[in-house]
Amino acid sequence: MRRSYSSIQKTDLLKLASIVGKSNLLLPGGDGTERYTTDWLGNNPSPLSSVVRPGDTREVSEVLKYCNFRGIGVVPQAGNTGLVRGGVPSESSQIVLSVERLNSISHIDEESGVVVCGAGVVLQTLDEALKEKGLMAPLDLGAKGSCMIGGNVSTNAGGLRLLRYGSLHGSVLGLEVVLANGTVLNMMTTLRKDNVGFDVKQIFIGGEGALGVITAVSLLAAPRPTTVNVSMLGVRSFENCRRLLRLARQKCGEIISAVEFSDTQALGLAMGAMAGFGPLPFQSPHPFYLFLETSGSHSSHDQEKLMGFLEAAQSAGLLEDGVIAGDVRQARSIWRLREDLPVGIAKRGKVFKYDVSLALPRMYSFVEATRERLSNLGWDAKGVIPVGYGHLGDGNLHLNVSTPLSISMPGGQAFLSALERDIEPWVYEWTLKEGGSISAEHGIGRDKVEWLPRAKPEAVVLAMRGIKELLDPKGIMNPGKVLSS
Ligand code: FAD
Ligand code: MLT
Ligand code: ZN
Repeated sequence: MRRSYSSIQKTDLLKLASIVGKSNLLLPGGDGTERYTTDWLGNNPSPLSSVVRPGDTREVSEVLKYCNFRGIGVVPQAGNTGLVRGGVPSESSQIVLSVERLNSISHIDEESGVVVCGAGVVLQTLDEALKEKGLMAPLDLGAKGSCMIGGNVSTNAGGLRLLRYGSLHGSVLGLEVVLANGTVLNMMTTLRKDNVGFDVKQIFIGGEGALGVITAVSLLAAPRPTTVNVSMLGVRSFENCRRLLRLARQKCGEIISAVEFSDTQALGLAMGAMAGFGPLPFQSPHPFYLFLETSGSHSSHDQEKLMGFLEAAQSAGLLEDGVIAGDVRQARSIWRLREDLPVGIAKRGKVFKYDVSLALPRMYSFVEATRERLSNLGWDAKGVIPVGYGHLGDGNLHLNVSTPLSISMPGGQAFLSALERDIEPWVYEWTLKEGGSISAEHGIGRDKVEWLPRAKPEAVVLAMRGIKELLDPKGIMNPGKVLSS
């Protein structure tokens, strides 16, 4: 059943301005709302939406209480780096609620490693503050300079080091959440263990703003490693990447902090499209690249282990070439080749992005099958290039289908619509047939709403709907995202 939402009246805007202050209510046309209504990939489904920027939990509560009373849809937003259209409004009758002003770090406990902060703290800022105390954020992603901890928790972001530090379901200790009717759920414990009843905060981790607004987070930081080794390896086949992963686990187990991969096509596209991306640290290209990071506290021990792994890899014929960063600057430039892949690829033209979990033996088959399908349909001759990269150690592949056109170019719309019909639903069907997940880490957002009921058992979807109905009976929280209304 589709709910009806109120259109926003002048009186509504006056009321919202009275809660957050006039300068924190941004109106379309002149107030710079575009950066909130346009997502990282350039989608802007509702340019006429207003933006409200509360400054504390009480203001968030007041805004939600009022919107709930009036039936106004609210789209929570943090850093707006999400990739599934979850954080931007789809209709002008929805407002964006930005948590960017909830950006204070209230407390870092050096002894327990627990940090308490507002949902609007930028991940990189948090990590820098933790660094001063010998600690580190337990997650890292390419968008760290813009994404915010509230957005990270709401998407249950994975990133580059999940393999070492686990998911946010483990490292988030406490949350403060405001529900649609303005009720504040204070679940801000800093305790490692707390089994008093249901662990309610877990449903907001990965809740994508559909159940409430996260206003504050208590997070278990990791001890900051004092020795880090970053290497990039040239590999002949994906099969060899898998073997290298297994070998790295055997030889360096407890010190591995990231195992990422890219195919040569992904790096080639990014290098072609983005000035300053590259060059590769190799004389000639290789079909695949592995990015391996170790982190520990004893440099000669770690280096010995890494060298042992590399020697074993070489003797087993798994390595074509490899470099180890000699200093922090080199480590940074190797990581940039992996972290900036999405940035470089997105510069070429419209990119269709798929974020799947698959069993390792079938992971790259997905890219190959996509390549074959699109080539058979003649799309390769039109400059359409499927590429793969991702979090090898977590079985998480990012299939990107890159195109030379954008929607605003002449003929762009028709070209891209026809291409999309040849990619979807095929990609989702392929993933589900393989027993994979259609969203490994980016979430459902708006993009995959139609697919959620096919990706989960009916009884589980019903339970999700029941939770939504209980917490947000009028359906004002992020309408049309995660679950169809
Ligand atoms: P937003 O984009 O603002 O919001 C994301 C979702 O959370 C939306 O549904 C929104 O409604 C909801 N939301 C935001 N704040 C709140 C809140 N306070 N309360 C309730 N709901 C809220 N993702 C990964 O998992 N791993 C990666 O490695 C990774 N790398 C990336 C690299 C690049 C270059 C880019 C552009 C994106 C990448 N992402 C990655 C995707 C994205 O950065 C993550 O999903 C991130 O966690 C989103 O955080 P954000 O602050 O930008 O959230
Ligand atoms: C990444 O791993 O780089 C991100 O999840 C972004 C992407 O999928 O492009
Ligand atoms: Zn990723």
